[in-house]
Amino acid sequence: MDHFVINGGSRLCGRLTVKGSKNATLPLMAAALLTDRPVMLQDVPDLADIRNMVGLLSELGCKVDFSPATSLDAAGGTMLLHATDESQSHARYEIVRTMRASICALGPMLAKRGFARISMPGGCAIGDRPVDLHLRGLAALGAEIQLHQGDIVARVPGGKGGRLRGARIFLGGPSGSTVLGTANVMSAAALAEGQTIIESAACEPEVVDVAKLLNAMGARIRGAGSPRIIIDGVESLGGAEHRVIPDRIEAGTYMCASAMTNGDITLDNCPMDALMAASDAFERIGLIVAPETGPAAAGRDPMRQTVRVTSARALSPVELTTQPHPGFPTDLQAQIMALLCLADGNSIITERIYPERFLHVAELSRMGAKIVRQGSTAVITGVRKLVGAPVMASDLRASACLVLAGLAAEGTTIVNRVYHLDRGYEQMEERLRALGASIERVREKQAAPAGETVAV
Ligand code: EPZ
Repeated sequence: MDHFVINGGSRLCGRLTVKGSKNATLPLMAAALLTDRPVMLQDVPDLADIRNMVGLLSELGCKVDFSPATSLDAAGGTMLLHATDESQSHARYEIVRTMRASICALGPMLAKRGFARISMPGGCAIGDRPVDLHLRGLAALGAEIQLHQGDIVARVPGGKGGRLRGARIFLGGPSGSTVLGTANVMSAAALAEGQTIIESAACEPEVVDVAKLLNAMGARIRGAGSPRIIIDGVESLGGAEHRVIPDRIEAGTYMCASAMTNGDITLDNCPMDALMAASDAFERIGLIVAPETGPAAAGRDPMRQTVRVTSARALSPVELTTQPHPGFPTDLQAQIMALLCLADGNSIITERIYPERFLHVAELSRMGAKIVRQGSTAVITGVRKLVGAPVMASDLRASACLVLAGLAAEGTTIVNRVYHLDRGYEQMEERLRALGASIERVREKQAAPAGETVAV
């Protein structure tokens, strides 16, 4: 298992291109199962999760040709997907346990093939990851769903020739809606007979991106990005080309990196339109996120802006609560906690999506952070400095948080188990080094611990 060696204290300065969104790419790839025509994706990031998804789709009869980007400055590579063989429709436990997001293949496969069998994803380091809303939504469309030996077995009455039927579906759960659940139900409803209304749909930008691809394939979807999505089913979908939206979580992570090192970073391809809650928090803390001006900025897509990120010398404490979009994203909670460890005063973070998503707290404390956790709330008392130490990554965003802390800390930090990081950050050490960080990856022969369910 590889680890990072980080010597903290360098100011990060320079320019960085935000890569395509991992959490959009995964359901966009799964959407290729809805057609027997080719689907082309641009700006695809080269990540462990993406390569896992390539493996899963290949097993499900979808040919995938992925040409990763060849330059650090590119937003991503090109991926051609073509589902040609529908004979194998079982997403096995061995693959699903490595990436619970495999569940997003359920809706497309069921709607196109009339049958789908997919291992029930387990929980993971950030908490239980139920899929009851996914199953409730698909059942409302007429699917017959059973659990068999740890697998979800779903059938459309009438099999391959049968069709799901449109329905009015409430997808709200105890923590709001479900992102991949909305993608699953929306994808399945695209081929259903009649109209489907999804109430309490997830409003995340990644859902909007999936709806955009589905409409390019011939679907008739309205309202994506709002809590009510209306889908008028069609008989079949064709191929399409689509450019993946930039990764708002990666962008927010590097903004924290700039502020924690008193740096000066310019981000290209930055989805500011999807970062309003995070921008609000950053501004209250003392970050200055300045959009580029002048003729180059005129007419630029609000989801692909160029911004310069600097910060006040003294960072201010804030109170924030993670919420479904457009609220503050849970996927930036660990990273902003690292930033708030250096603020002048007490901050409060409440985690409403995954109440257990605090495995990074103990590791930050090893670096001198002062954090008290009470249930789903953490109180962070800013300290003058963090001190380097060996720490253990536990999940994707916690590992990013520990890298950020190491960049700011005095002395050397060893971040162990960076395979977690490789799931969602492409070439992080190279890109940080290009900004002036002292960071090295030490490769170790031992792979990830067998049987560990790593899933986001
Ligand atoms: C997506 O996961 C993201 N992953 C997660 O990012 C992100 O944290 C999450 O959305 C919330 O924004 C991908 O897109 C691949 P949910 P998803 O279903 O869709 C509860 C990362 O770091 N729930 O929106 O699986 C659930 O327990 C990862 O990149 C149910 O109760 O999340 C949670 O509290 C981590 N029943 C809340 O809803 C269900 O059937 C949100 O879950 C489904 C979810």
